[in-house]
Amino acid sequence: MRQYKLYEGKGNDCLTLENVDKPVIKRSTDVIVKIHALSLNARDHQFTNGIYALPVPEGGAVVTSDAAGEVVEVGSEVSDFKIGDRAEHTSPKQIGNAIGFSAVGTASEFMLVNQEDILPMPSHMSYEEGATLPIACGTAWNSLYGSAKTIQSGDTVVCMGTGGVAVFTAAIALGAGARVIMTSSSDDKVEEVRKHLGALITSPDRFLTLNRKKHKETDKEVVRLNGGERADFLVEIGGIRTLPASIRSVKKSGLIALVGYLSDQHGEEGPTEGERLPELTSNVAKELLFSGAIVKGTYCCNREQMRQMHTAFEQTKFHPIIDKVFEFDQLKEAYDYAQSGDHLGKIVVKVASS
Ligand SMILES: NC(=O)c1ccc[n+]([C@@H]2O[C@H](COP(=O)([O-])OP(=O)(O)OC[C@H]3O[C@@H](n4cnc5c(N)ncnc54)[C@H](OP(=O)(O)O)[C@@H]3O)[C@@H](O)[C@H]2O)c1
Repeated sequence: MRQYKLYEGKGNDCLTLENVDKPVIKRSTDVIVKIHALSLNARDHQFTNGIYALPVPEGGAVVTSDAAGEVVEVGSEVSDFKIGDRAEHTSPKQIGNAIGFSAVGTASEFMLVNQEDILPMPSHMSYEEGATLPIACGTAWNSLYGSAKTIQSGDTVVCMGTGGVAVFTAAIALGAGARVIMTSSSDDKVEEVRKHLGALITSPDRFLTLNRKKHKETDKEVVRLNGGERADFLVEIGGIRTLPASIRSVKKSGLIALVGYLSDQHGEEGPTEGERLPELTSNVAKELLFSGAIVKGTYCCNREQMRQMHTAFEQTKFHPIIDKVFEFDQLKEAYDYAQSGDHLGKIVVKVASS
């Protein structure tokens, strides 16, 4: 079978397509899944570029974490799945043994997993759609439902950008009856998102947009759009450069789910991190102290949260936004496209042809 490995984090060209033996069942609760589709996350190209939280392990890594496919073999004690079932990988449990990094990833024609590491796919979704859910959607769900403070109808949620996490967060928030303020570098992108989420936007004031290039003081614009009030939730993907404004955007006891630090990578907010780090961290400390906002580090989601997310999507018949589908032998092009940031929602790679 074919699979992609990474031996050094020096760019997307380091992805190597190899022919290896198909996995075999080792334990009685193992399952072999024929992968039909995988989806990319920002962390995948961070890893190929050597800037992810985990280094490339000795002996290389089978890359990517999201996948959906068909169960083709089951161990003697597998009770949750049978041959022919459609399944998707669950979110990684913790950073240390993250699938696609230190644990074998999904960029492969077949994967060997424990039955605890997969879940049945939502029945109304295609393999391409199911493959988008584990990391980005799991993180969005955990951001809004993973704490004592959970999203309520009438809340306001700020979603940063128009990538995987942000678009899923917007869909989940709208489904819960909240108002969404989506920030973006592009008016065209947010209009595309508005079109895709159409059915969930029950009135125009439920989906408001903010161009972060035009409004440098995003917090003031959030408050203006929200009728003079700060927001209840914000999913922070920018990191240390954007966090001060994010803290000023949420109310006392409002929740900021800190999921990423993209502004460290892109440096689009001005001087490099090293030059401004003391000033930036001091700003964060002060803003946090005086605002009373809660900042919660949020990593993917657990199996139970993923089940809840599936149930909610089964009810609303929600379909994820897929920007583009690449073929398996175009994985590097798919990575380049994800890295460009030009996409909207998710990028998918078809693995099996049927
Ligand atoms: N904690 C977790 O478990 C977890 C899980 C998944 C992802 N993440 C992290 O979350 C972040 C987003 O992931 P993703 O997969 O959604 O990425 P993505 O699909 O690549 O989307 C990124 C989008 O964010 C916007 N953006 C880029 N730089 C920004 C900045 N400095 N300030 C505000 N917005 C910015 C851009 O949208 P516009 O062009 O519209 O502005 C860009 O298209 C990444 O840092 C990723 O590593 C964390």
